[in-house]
Formats: sequence, C-alpha cells, structure tokens
Amino acid sequence: MALLRCENVTKRFGGLVAVDSMTFEIDSGELMAIVGPNGAGKTTMFNLINGVFPADEGKIWFEDLDVTNFPAYKRAHLGMGRTFQIPRPFASASVQENIAIGAMFGSAGAEINVERAMEMADHYIEIIGLKKHRDKPAGGLTPTEKKLVEIARALAMKPRLLLMDEAMAGMNPKDIDGMVSFIRHIRDTEGIAIVSMVEHIMRAVAGLAERVIVMHQGALLVDEPTREALTDPRVVEVYLGHPPEEIDAQG
Ligand SMILES: Nc1ncnc2c1ncn2[C@@H]1O[C@H](COP(=O)(O)OP(=O)(O)O)[C@@H](O)[C@H]1O
Ligand SMILES: [Mg+2]
Repeated sequence: MALLRCENVTKRFGGLVAVDSMTFEIDSGELMAIVGPNGAGKTTMFNLINGVFPADEGKIWFEDLDVTNFPAYKRAHLGMGRTFQIPRPFASASVQENIAIGAMFGSAGAEINVERAMEMADHYIEIIGLKKHRDKPAGGLTPTEKKLVEIARALAMKPRLLLMDEAMAGMNPKDIDGMVSFIRHIRDTEGIAIVSMVEHIMRAVAGLAERVIVMHQGALLVDEPTREALTDPRVVEVYLGHPPEEIDAQG
C-alpha cells in the first residue's frame, strides 16, 4: 500500500485552477522531487497534502486512512512533516528550544514531556551539525543554518512523510551539494519518505531524487524515474526549450 495517495486532487483560487486533478502515489522511504516552473502549483500541492487548506475536489489517503477532510494538525500527528521555503524560527528561542517544539507537537507529541523533547532536540542538533549553536537564539543563525534547524524541527516531529519546500533555494553550489547528501542521509537513517520541491536547481534534483513529478500549469506533466523525467521532451520544453546543462554534463 502507498504511504500517500492523491486522486484527482484539485484546488481553485477564483477562476484559476492552481492544482488540476493531480493523481499520484508516494511509497514509504521514497526520495522524490516535485519540480516545475514558478506558478506550476507545487506549493499549493504541498498545502493540500498537509491540510493547510482543503481540496475542492479529489481524495487524499495516508496509508489506509482517508485524510481528505482532516485539518493540518491531525495530519501532522499522523506523521506528515513539512518544512517551509522561508524558515521562521522563534527568533529569541534557542536552537534547542526551537527543535524541542517540533518534538512536542509531532506524531509522538502526547507522550513527550519538555525534558524528553529537549533530549530529542539534542539528537537532531547532532545530526544537523549545529552543536556549537545549541543555546544561541535561532534568529542569529545564517539562512542555511536556519534551514537546517527547520529540518531538525520537522524531523523531531517523527514524520513518516517529510515535505520540503525549496530546501535549497538561494544556496551556493557547495551548500546545495551538502544539503543533497544530508537529505539522502536522513532518508537512509530515519527511513522516512521525503518529497522535495525544487523550482530551478536541476543539479540538486539529479543528485537527490529517485523519481520526479513535473507539474505544469497545475497539472501532472510527467511522473518518471529522475533521468527519464529530466530529459523528457515535454519537460525540456517547459524548461526553456533545452535540457538542463547539469544533466548533459553527467552524461
Ligand atoms: N492563496 C492564493 N490565492 C490566490 N492565488 C494563489 C494562492 N496561492 C497560489 N496562487 C496561485 O496559484 C498558482 C500556483 O501557485 P503555487 O502553488 O505557489 O506555485 P509554485 O509553488 O509551483 O510556484 C499561481 O498562479 C499562484 O499565483
Ligand atoms: Mg512555491
């Protein structure tokens, strides 16, 4: 059984069809990317999956549970995690406290006291390599460090599915490569499915994802293994009429 299944999911904003009858599945432990140009509907698709707003049409299942009408907090408790394109940590709270908040609101939240949440935070601070910043206010971190804290906060919620909105936007190539291997590492060690949304950075997609869904004007354009997807003529056309250079370079 798929971990997540979307069937004909549609969302309109006035006359605009932002997400147009999307049907796809995500399996447990899968590492995939949702790709598409600006305005393709990627963020709206994420918001529909994790319940920021309800779908106008269609159904969403999390394993055997129909979550179509579940609010976001219920979906989070079931194990749907999310990072945001622009991290908004509690600026004056410490790195450790920010991550502990994730632990307390996550899928194990009800059984977790503050002490245990702080211990869990320490575990994820190790993983993201920010031990030396543990007690500093999160507001003083660099953008890349804030991204890492955001990921740690989401991981502390113990998700089985983690949706990452533009985890690599605005990063330099070195940080992108670091983030790609980090995301692969957490998939391998935490055993969770990760869906990463990427607008432009094809280099990251090629190194990261095993499968790619390409969205165009709200609809599903292709759903294929990464190499096939990124060299698919329909995808090439959507991305300015030539194959992404990084794909060529990797032969
Ligand atoms: N809250 C909203 N109200 C009205 N229109 C929206 C809203 N959110 C997104 N849109 C529109 O829906 C379309 C898809 O947007 P979005 O999902 O943000 O695309 P992407 O993340 O792929 O860039 C765009 O045309 C955008 O302007
Ligand atoms: Mg977006």
